Amino acid sequence: MQIAVLEAGGVGSGVGRAVRFTRYGGPEVLQVVQVPRPEAQPGTVVVEVVSAAVNPGEIGIREGVFADRWPASFPEGQGNDFSGVVAEVGPGVGRLGVGQAVLGFAPRAAQAQFVRVPADRLAVKPAGLGWDEAAAVAGAGATAWAAVAVVDPRPGETVLVSAAAGGVGVVAAQLALLRGARVIGTAGEGNAGFLAGLGVVPVRYGPGLLERVRAAAPDGVDACVDTFGPPNAEVALALGVPAERINTTADGRAVQRHGVHHDAQEQADDPEIWRQLAQLVADGRLQVPITATYPLAAVQRAYHDLATRHVRGKRVLHIASPARRAELAP
Ligand SMILES: NC(=O)c1ccc[n+]([C@@H]2O[C@H](COP(=O)([O-])OP(=O)(O)OC[C@H]3O[C@@H](n4cnc5c(N)ncnc54)[C@H](OP(=O)(O)O)[C@@H]3O)[C@@H](O)[C@H]2O)c1
Repeated sequence: MQIAVLEAGGVGSGVGRAVRFTRYGGPEVLQVVQVPRPEAQPGTVVVEVVSAAVNPGEIGIREGVFADRWPASFPEGQGNDFSGVVAEVGPGVGRLGVGQAVLGFAPRAAQAQFVRVPADRLAVKPAGLGWDEAAAVAGAGATAWAAVAVVDPRPGETVLVSAAAGGVGVVAAQLALLRGARVIGTAGEGNAGFLAGLGVVPVRYGPGLLERVRAAAPDGVDACVDTFGPPNAEVALALGVPAERINTTADGRAVQRHGVHHDAQEQADDPEIWRQLAQLVADGRLQVPITATYPLAAVQRAYHDLATRHVRGKRVLHIASPARRAELAP
């Protein structure tokens, strides 16, 4: 599933490569094409993207599942959270200069060699933070931040995190640990040891989950961050967790039926939050494991792999070429 990539636009050229799709469908509709390079306008900068994350919500958009709420406008771009370097600064932008390493969120546009972003919608990337980890901060990282904030775990409490090795779950589990909570995290067999290494109590998902969580938390569960969907929110309710201490990013029915929270990226769409998250990762207090990286030409394969829903952390697209990445120390 490696597709032909049209000739790369150089940093100084008027074109750049970008992911586009012109109809709804499977990963095969994704193409890498040349598009005009955006120009910086007042208050904006053009970022040369180094890495861009790959997220499950993008599958629904590309397949047309969310067309009622979030229709595509063909030819549609793809990708949201990214890391990169400022390539051009528009008039009126004071705080950022060319060459500054940044991270941010550019809706349906991030999987492109160049992206134009309002300058106040970027966070400075801490030196030493890897490009791939930085690319996940404003998407999965911010989503986890919002999900944990709304259920507000306190020291000594027990929090259930579903899909605790997933992109959102692994950050949520660690943020809850940093608040002093005990965390029970659901995962497949292959991630149990990894979660235990983080300090999370691993519990296998699947039939019998309620009993396994009850056995792991004999004193009860106080809050739940669901990042997978059914049956996790209802398992938490059955364990006695009040609806106001449950958040789901993946179970609209539980939101409607039980009034659980559904805070996600939108509730932490804030460069100050991204900065704090990025600093936690740079300081080694928060891990963002990178399961796999893909060259831009392998974007179809990245989404094919993502759809398996088995991962440890994030899958990330390398937008910049290996030669360009080598020039840009993290
Ligand atoms: N609204 C928003 O702003 C927003 C933002 C980000 C995410 N989301 C949503 O949040 C959800 C999580 O996103 P994500 O990026 O964290 O997904 P992800 O990284 O693809 O999550 C994969 C994880 O799911 C686990 N899993 C697989 N089957 C499972 C099962 N039957 N029960 C429990 N866990 C299972 C896997 O565990 P193993 O690998 O251990 O098998 C894996 O760790 C998605 O639905 C996404 O659309 C919403």
